[in-house]
Amino acid sequence: MAVTLNRLRMRAKNYDRQAKSYSGAYLFCCIFMLGPRTLYRDHNHAAPELYVNLSEKSGWRFGTSDWKDYPAGSLIWNPSGAPHATRVYEQPFISVFVWLENVNSRCNLVHCDDWEEIEHELAGLGS
Ligand SMILES: [Fe+2]
Repeated sequence: MAVTLNRLRMRAKNYDRQAKSYSGAYLFCCIFMLGPRTLYRDHNHAAPELYVNLSEKSGWRFGTSDWKDYPAGSLIWNPSGAPHATRVYEQPFISVFVWLENVNSRCNLVHCDDWEEIEHELAGLGS
């Protein structure tokens, strides 16, 4: 009987250790939406980020690369600290996004000289 109790105590300690090793390891997941003709300006954050695009078409820019359009079902991976921006055309943008760690980190704007030009172009869509 003493052996059984000791084993139970050992298991309880192991579970407790495992629970402590996972404490603080959580993620942030939500539905993210932007209205039509919107520029979600270039920004970065310490949180690595995964998007699952649900909209038919959305534009993305990573760092200083050119804009590229992505279809519904595409995955966008933004590593920690990497600048990125999203532009939304005539239809609203809907996605699922997940921050995998550093979920309390700040979102920092990364200035680009073309924001006003892009916003002007988006405002003129469909007119
Ligand atoms: Fe982001």
